[in-house]
Amino acid sequence: MPVTMLVLVMVLIVYTVCAAAMHCSSCGNTPIPYPLSTTTTCGHQSYKIRCDKGVLKFDTLNNTYPIISISPKDQRLVIAQSPFLPNTCVTADLPTQGIQLDSSLPFTVSLNNTIIFFNCTEIMSSFSMDCTPTSPCRAYVNSPQMSVCRKSPRCCSYYKGSSSSLYALRLTMDRCRAYKSFVNLNSSLPFIKWPDPTVELTWALPPEPPCTKQAHCDSTSTCRNTPDGTQRCLCKSTFIWDAAAGQCVKGK
Ligand SMILES: *[C@@H]1O[C@H](CO)[C@@H](O)[C@H](O)[C@H]1NC(C)=O
Ligand SMILES: *[C@@H]1O[C@H](CO)[C@@H](O)[C@H](O)[C@H]1NC(C)=O
Ligand SMILES: *[C@@H]1O[C@H](CO)[C@@H](O)[C@H](O)[C@H]1NC(C)=O
Ligand SMILES: *[C@@H]1O[C@H](CO)[C@@H](O)[C@H](O)[C@H]1NC(C)=O
Repeated sequence: MPVTMLVLVMVLIVYTVCAAAMHCSSCGNTPIPYPLSTTTTCGHQSYKIRCDKGVLKFDTLNNTYPIISISPKDQRLVIAQSPFLPNTCVTADLPTQGIQLDSSLPFTVSLNNTIIFFNCTEIMSSFSMDCTPTSPCRAYVNSPQMSVCRKSPRCCSYYKGSSSSLYALRLTMDRCRAYKSFVNLNSSLPFIKWPDPTVELTWALPPEPPCTKQAHCDSTSTCRNTPDGTQRCLCKSTFIWDAAAGQCVKGK
């Protein structure tokens, strides 16, 4: 084998090993796209999710939700919402104040969720939410799907894109005690056709990996100062940062 060919083969092997180390292996049958991470040795450590006996789970500050789907191309993941406690208008995650995300991490609650709160107190009317007797949630509460909440004091609707916090879907005893969240809901459809309640989260794409010396970077990048004062493995001139792949790729 000519020497140049041997070098090429070695480069390919090293490249394949490095690239493989960055992506986590599948959880059960579900592939884990970069930057999501199930162990300390793969993915990006700010994007931790959990593989529990072949089932993917998402940990919030104080709770855990099963992951239903992951869409790496638009950085979205969908989790199951907390179930209702039997025969009550209370969701099981009320004690942990609903879904509370760690605001130092790159995950946020997507604006594609339509959220309806149930069993709310008077205090909710002071938030920018429709809790009036003519709120669209009233009709839903009066449907057979939600009979469990019919006797609760009031409901409030939170429509697409109007969430007040990107890091929480908040429930508290003094506000509301239950919710249903629907992703990309078309509310003109009859209730029976509404999708299963789920919550969509999005993640911000990762910047170049941090470094303190060149050895932390691969051959496509150099450890340099960035405008925000940190050092990162910035791509060499003929490469550009492909955040979805988590590596420098050949520029055009
Ligand atoms: C509403 O929430 C309160 C407080 O958790 C609970 O005691 C009550 O049963 C709930 N209402 C209904 C109709 O389930
Ligand atoms: C969530 O967990 C943190 C620490 O793990 C604790 O300080 C906090 O009180 C918890 N909050 C709720 C609402 O359970
Ligand atoms: C809602 O989800 C779709 C993908 O299903 C996405 O293209 C769109 O940007 C999302 N909109 C918002 C406001 O997040
Ligand atoms: C929502 O559903 C109604 C009733 O089926 C339909 O006419 C409308 O086109 C749907 N809207 C969207 C954005 O899918």
